[in-house]
Amino acid sequence: MLKGEDLFKKIIAHAKEYGFIFQSSEIYDGLSAVYDYGQNGCALKNNIKDYWWKSMVQYHENIVGIDSAIFMHPTVWKASGHVDAFNDPLIDNKDSKKRYRADVLIEDHMAKLEEKIGKEVEKAAKRFGDSFDEKMFRETNPRVLANQEKIDAIRTRFVAALDKNDLKDIKTLIEELEITCPISGSRNWTDVRQFNLMFSTQMGSLSEDANLIYLRPETAQGIFVNYLNVQKTGRMKIPFGIAQIGKAFRNEIVARQFVFRMREFEQMEMQFFVRPGEEKQWYDFWKEERMKWHKSLGIPGELFRFHDHDKLAHYANAAADIEFMFPFGYKELEGIHSRTDFDLAAHQKFSGKKLQYFDPETNESYVPYVVETSIGLDRTFLAVLSHAYKEETLEDGSQRVVLNLPPMLAPVKAAVLPLMKKDGLPEKARELMDKLKYDLMCRYEEKDAIGRRYRRQDAIGTPYCLTIDHQTLEDNTVTIRERDTMKQERIHMDNVKQVVLERISYRKG
Ligand code: GAP
Repeated sequence: MLKGEDLFKKIIAHAKEYGFIFQSSEIYDGLSAVYDYGQNGCALKNNIKDYWWKSMVQYHENIVGIDSAIFMHPTVWKASGHVDAFNDPLIDNKDSKKRYRADVLIEDHMAKLEEKIGKEVEKAAKRFGDSFDEKMFRETNPRVLANQEKIDAIRTRFVAALDKNDLKDIKTLIEELEITCPISGSRNWTDVRQFNLMFSTQMGSLSEDANLIYLRPETAQGIFVNYLNVQKTGRMKIPFGIAQIGKAFRNEIVARQFVFRMREFEQMEMQFFVRPGEEKQWYDFWKEERMKWHKSLGIPGELFRFHDHDKLAHYANAAADIEFMFPFGYKELEGIHSRTDFDLAAHQKFSGKKLQYFDPETNESYVPYVVETSIGLDRTFLAVLSHAYKEETLEDGSQRVVLNLPPMLAPVKAAVLPLMKKDGLPEKARELMDKLKYDLMCRYEEKDAIGRRYRRQDAIGTPYCLTIDHQTLEDNTVTIRERDTMKQERIHMDNVKQVVLERISYRKG
């Protein structure tokens, strides 16, 4: 089975070959960490958005959706803390001239120690077989304990340095851990500096009166500044949520790993406004709800895990990530944050406008607390794609690449394939297309042998292929071939729409 780096390379190549993801401005040699979604990628991405939107907005009576502008008043970013604190600590290697995030270098070092522990556990599990007690082993094995102690000490020191914004100590830590540059192999580092991640531009035509404005680094602030508009016009009662899907921009220092870390990306965020004091209960609720959502995509549960934050952002009183086992390891896919009243209180202060809620149940006015769920659309896309990609050897020895996408997310739901380009079969197939196309995303294909056409549909994850053959002309039945099992059955043309719609339904997952 393909794993790790090899699997990742194959997925990137497949994404390009089958029209899922292209590098931006490719004919000009591309633009770093910016990508375009092609014909199949755009459809898959829209289906993920649609599923998220339905799960959040349509299935919850107390959540509504908005679409706020990318450009916002510059004071928004002052109030939110982004102008002063949306920084990454960066460090350069003087020999390779490569730039790194200092926190990532340290985290990668800790991950290597974790890996060592993992290997010890794996070895012991093999040695002891069924009688292996992993918990006991982790608590008593001297090598595991020594590495765990190292990890804990690094983390404590690192969190303290970040808290105090002690960039000198972060550099000293990198030196003490003897972290080397992966390119030059040297330890010749510059000092650590803070780097603001927001992109800025100017609004207004004349340079004298032009204002510096930012491309939003998160969609959340568009929700906060509209909190009162939505609460009043929607007559929303606390607890309630506002959801939004949209582009965000960050000038990432180290942009890598394909669509995992981009400079222009898309977020799906929901801010849930609650009574102060009830935020913990809602935070726990949304953590579980969001984990259930990920598992409902048909991806095995063990590929997800929670990572509770040690170091909380300036606005949060609790925070956790949902991490996914990407081909390059467990990494953040979604953040769930209990943001207190930080944002609304800050906007109240900076704008001078009251952003309070009168609670008819308690007869009190207060600034609501917020629990946020924030998921990266592109990372979800990558998670879905990397889990779906399979290389299979079939019974006859031939090979196929198949995307086992959840049917509801597949770019094309059904391919309509006349067996031959003659004898009236294309005309009959077009008849079927006309019956289906208003309700289902279908693709018509008549070129090449049927086997090759099946392979092409497998490679983009089409769950059903409908073949029109000579028998169709006699009795109006077609064969329906299922992507994963490759099993075929005959059904009447009049029933195709109903059958496919039922099988791809959201409820089926
Ligand atoms: N409003 C909170 C917020 O923006 P975040 O953890 O910075 O929190 C939320 O971002 C999610 O957005 C992440 O979990 C990730 O999935 C996605 N994301 C963040 N930066 C990204 C980037 N440079 N490229 C792709 N996705 C990104």
